[in-house]
Amino acid sequence: MGTREAWDIAARFPSSFLWGVATSAYQIEGALNADGRGRSIWESFCERPGAIDRGDDASVACDHYHRYRDDIALIRDLGVGSYRFSIAWPRIQPTGQGAANRAGLAFYERLVDGLLEAGIRPFPTLYHWDLPQALEDTGGWAARDTAARFADYTALVMQVLGDRVDHWALFNEPFIFTSRGYLLGRYAPGRRSLPDFLRAVHVVTMAHADGFRAAKAVRPSAQVGSVFAMAPCEPATDCDDDRAATAYADAVFNRLFTAPLFTGRYPQPFLDSIPLKALAMRPGDTERMRVPLDFLGVNTYYRLVVSSGGDNRPDLPYFLFDVLSDQRTTGGHADFSAPGGNILRIENAFGRSEGKRTAMGWEIWPRALHDVLLSITRDYGAIPIEICESGCAFDESPGTDGVVHDQGRIAYHRAHIAAVAEAMQGGANVRSYHAWSLYDNFEWASGYRPRFGLAHVDFATQRRTLKDSAHWYRDICRAARGNVGAAVGYGD
Ligand code: FCB
Repeated sequence: MGTREAWDIAARFPSSFLWGVATSAYQIEGALNADGRGRSIWESFCERPGAIDRGDDASVACDHYHRYRDDIALIRDLGVGSYRFSIAWPRIQPTGQGAANRAGLAFYERLVDGLLEAGIRPFPTLYHWDLPQALEDTGGWAARDTAARFADYTALVMQVLGDRVDHWALFNEPFIFTSRGYLLGRYAPGRRSLPDFLRAVHVVTMAHADGFRAAKAVRPSAQVGSVFAMAPCEPATDCDDDRAATAYADAVFNRLFTAPLFTGRYPQPFLDSIPLKALAMRPGDTERMRVPLDFLGVNTYYRLVVSSGGDNRPDLPYFLFDVLSDQRTTGGHADFSAPGGNILRIENAFGRSEGKRTAMGWEIWPRALHDVLLSITRDYGAIPIEICESGCAFDESPGTDGVVHDQGRIAYHRAHIAAVAEAMQGGANVRSYHAWSLYDNFEWASGYRPRFGLAHVDFATQRRTLKDSAHWYRDICRAARGNVGAAVGYGD
């Protein structure tokens, strides 16, 4: 029946609103050599000494590849209406090109069919960071050909699953994987190169455009969008320099990939700060890169507080700005300065902040989600928005009763869901909320230490245990399904 609170929360949303949970292939599947899967850039990256905390790797992860039936039962038990997952490109095309590997596709067919039988919307992402290593060997995302390969891969998947899956996301967080993978060296493939990063930006933009068209060519009725990491940017003080720095940070973090797709132009402050030829654009690209995405997926984990200059630059784990300024001082390839010529300083994870922090060091700031949703609405009108990830990690382990009493996570989701409801009252056209994550998993370079799950995973036994937050979330999902006239149960 659920609690009074759950009913009150569900009642604030339309009956068509989808409550969901999210995962990604590399973080949960394991079975990296099963059924003809090819190698991805993350296996290579995990083998680099020091790349992953404690030397963890994803060879087993949550063993989802073998346990997917139990996992569907778990998801069904939560009562969610939507499950966001990703498809591993190396399972479909082991070398990133050529004919489809039937056994790899068959896995996702079984998964999708199981979800549909359970009345859950399957909501796949085509690229959540696991590039086939063979494509990295020919240049990775810095090579133009990779955009064409992505379009081919998209078509292959659509041909098989397009009859059963209505909503598709092309990419997960293009800014994060290009900046961390090509510029900062902190994610696969671990490069630290400004020229490679800039090329990757444009290749991934063209991959969006080509992938969108390939998907629509196979399935004109498919709803095709993409998922962007977004964070509201606030000036640290009211001074002009901080405001200019904030506008620049916003252009790069929030608009570098959305602006070309929605408007056909890279954001002006970004263009002003780089030599255009560094993007390696080709004639005709400007016309091609504008595509009418059917929805915008958004992942918001924090806000960014931005100031210009300052000697005491903090560690900027997520951003290119300090690397850019290094490039300037070491005579790098581009004079990559913010308007006014200042070095940007961004404080979120490790700098000044008012909110409490999660185990990732990220400031808890629910207003960020509200502000992002309304800024999308201001910029792109009433485009449907899917909240594809929202969640937090805490250092937690089961108590003596075997249960995780994660009040912090409940408070996190409660506040973020309230922020979504408020943004919807303000006009944001939000259609879903996916908790990151269904269960604890392989958190990229941080390994298994940060636990983001609603369900706890004991990685030694693969036992899954619902945390208190999972029970709390389940009550909302069930209350939503019980809404008068509910149309929530996808496929019901
Ligand atoms: C996002 C990623 C997701 C997960 C969360 C914590 O940036 O999309 O895979 O790692 O962060």
